[in-house]
Amino acid sequence: MIGFIGAGQVGKTLGRYFAKHGVQITGYYSRSYESASKGAELTKSQAFKELRDLITTSQLIMMTMPDDRIGDMAVHLGKLNLDWKSKIVCHTSGVHSSALLEPLFQQGVTVASLHPMLSFADEDYALKVLGQTPLTLEGKGTQMNELKKILQVVHLKVRELKTEQKSLYHAAACIVSNYLVTLMDIGIECLVKAGFEQHSAIELIEPLATGTLHNFLEKGSEAALTGPIARGDVGTIRTHLQAISKENKHIEEIYRLLGESTLSIVRKQNQLDEYTLDGLKEVLQNEKGNNRNYQKNENEK
Ligand SMILES: NC(=O)c1ccc[n+]([C@@H]2O[C@H](COP(=O)([O-])OP(=O)(O)OC[C@H]3O[C@@H](n4cnc5c(N)ncnc54)[C@H](OP(=O)(O)O)[C@@H]3O)[C@@H](O)[C@H]2O)c1
Repeated sequence: MIGFIGAGQVGKTLGRYFAKHGVQITGYYSRSYESASKGAELTKSQAFKELRDLITTSQLIMMTMPDDRIGDMAVHLGKLNLDWKSKIVCHTSGVHSSALLEPLFQQGVTVASLHPMLSFADEDYALKVLGQTPLTLEGKGTQMNELKKILQVVHLKVRELKTEQKSLYHAAACIVSNYLVTLMDIGIECLVKAGFEQHSAIELIEPLATGTLHNFLEKGSEAALTGPIARGDVGTIRTHLQAISKENKHIEEIYRLLGESTLSIVRKQNQLDEYTLDGLKEVLQNEKGNNRNYQKNENEK
């Protein structure tokens, strides 16, 4: 019997997923009764006006509320003077660990964090793919095996994590999800500055972006990486930097920094000689770029 505190995107979607797989949802408590009622309607459960009623009737309590509210809520719950025997409280924040629920652990509650590696912006889509999505779990207490069993029964793919791994783990998720969007946005900005309409710029990048992602997932970074840095085309990088620096210094800086990280993948590819690698490094690091003729050197070999 699962109860939710917070009837937002994650709370409603997880509730619908559990209900769909035959787990009884007790209901929802939320900041607004309106949201709690919506969650209850979607899962054929109850909207609670009192937290203590939700907790008394639930075995597993999922705190699906904003990250910054979880700690205060844990302190508040700890003061309710309830019988917490055999209860499990779990939040879904990616960045925070179960340590945020320490006031409850002190009262014998099993505490955990369970983070789905998924964006819930489209709730119906998230519901559809949740079963194939890895969720990371860490926590402590006597009911951890019981929690794992509940998640196993509904076929959720759980990966266990150590408490101290959480911050870096979530930073990685943020880089892959958020900054991928930022990178596409920067690419579109350059195309628009080059004279393309926004919609045709998106059309232009679609096969490139999806193809690259496909290659990366299928073959890994070394095999997926193509382009001027992988080829050792120092002149091309210089031309890019000259064009970008006229438009946006900030993008130029990003280009240089990502170029340097790309260079470490190129080193692993082991296709370029040291002279060309040095030239790439210099052109990426220097304000004006380097004017040595690396192509000539390549031809002379
Ligand atoms: N969205 C994602 O893609 C995603 C992915 C993975 C993990 N997460 C994590 O999941 C958690 C929930 O995120 P979300 O995107 O579902 O947030 P959300 O859509 O903004 O929903 C948060 C819900 O919490 C309720 N709430 C806020 N303060 C509250 C309080 N003090 N007491 C009770 N309820 C309160 C809100 O209430 P009202 O609606 O009643 O105002 C809202 O229904 C966060 O920890 C987040 O980091 C999110």
